[in-house]
Formats: sequence, structure tokens, C-alpha cells
Amino acid sequence: METSQLSRGQFLKQLGLSSAALMSFYCLGTGLTSCSSSSEDPAPTTTTGGGTNTNSGVTGAITGAIDFTLDLTNANFSKLKTVGEFTYVGDIIIANAKGTFVALSKACTHQGTAVNYRSGTNDFFCPNHGSIFRTDGTVQKDPATRALTVYKTELLNSNNSLRVKA
Ligand code: FES
Repeated sequence: METSQLSRGQFLKQLGLSSAALMSFYCLGTGLTSCSSSSEDPAPTTTTGGGTNTNSGVTGAITGAIDFTLDLTNANFSKLKTVGEFTYVGDIIIANAKGTFVALSKACTHQGTAVNYRSGTNDFFCPNHGSIFRTDGTVQKDPATRALTVYKTELLNSNNSLRVKA
């Protein structure tokens, strides 16, 4: 295999083609995936339903029909066990709001900026123009006028897993 590719390359070089052109020939011959770099092509850890994610500690669909589970023992999500912490998974913000897990669409309904969870006031704040959303997703302060989408949350596996579902 290696020998035949070298021979092919040497043959094409003799035709006066550049290395870029040679690469194109190889890509056509071997399929595009074998020619893309690893940095452009991270391997997904999980593919289920309509969503694909590359986050360790997440299983399930993070797009489409949302239904995924976070491993709260995984370093990426273990902080969620602490009251007041929050994280983003796909287009969703998940917060430990006074011991209750709240999952909302993260994009502010005004102009789409990602909201933050504020433990002091137990609300979701948009840093762009100052909209505030309650933990049930409804608007507390404009300029946003529409509520954030609420997702169901359920603790599983002796509170070591958190399921988030549409
Ligand atoms: S984008 Fe959130 S308040 Fe404007």
C-alpha cells in the first residue's frame, strides 16, 4: 500500500504537479476523511438520536429532540453538585439553583447572547443589555419579552447523573 502510494507520487511528480495537487489526487483516491487534519475533525464521543456531542460526561442528544444525561462525577460537570454553579451544554444552560437543577435555553430572547446564572438573586442574567429571566424561564426584566425554553431535569443514579429532556 505504502509502496504503491509512493510510486504514484513519484509518477505524478514526474508529471510536474505541485505537492498540493498531489494531495488532491490522494484525497480523491482515498476519501476526504483520511485527508483532513485531526484538529479539524474531533472524534465524537457520543452520537445518539438527533445530536452529536464531543463533551466527555455527556450521553444522548444535545440537539434536535433534546434528551441527554450528564455524568455529575465527571470533572466537566461535577461542579454542578455545588449550589450556584452552572454550565452550558450545546444551546442549554444548566444551573444548580438553590439545590434544584434548572435547564433553560441559553440564548437570550432579545438578541441571542448567552445568559449566566446568578446565585445571589437566583435568576438568569443577560450581560448584553441586562435582561433578567426567572428560573422558570419567564422574563423578569426587559428588553427581552419572550421566555427562555424550559427543559425537564431529573436526578438519576443516586444523584450522580442528571437527565435533561425536552
Ligand atoms: S441580547 Fe440579551 S438583553 Fe439584549
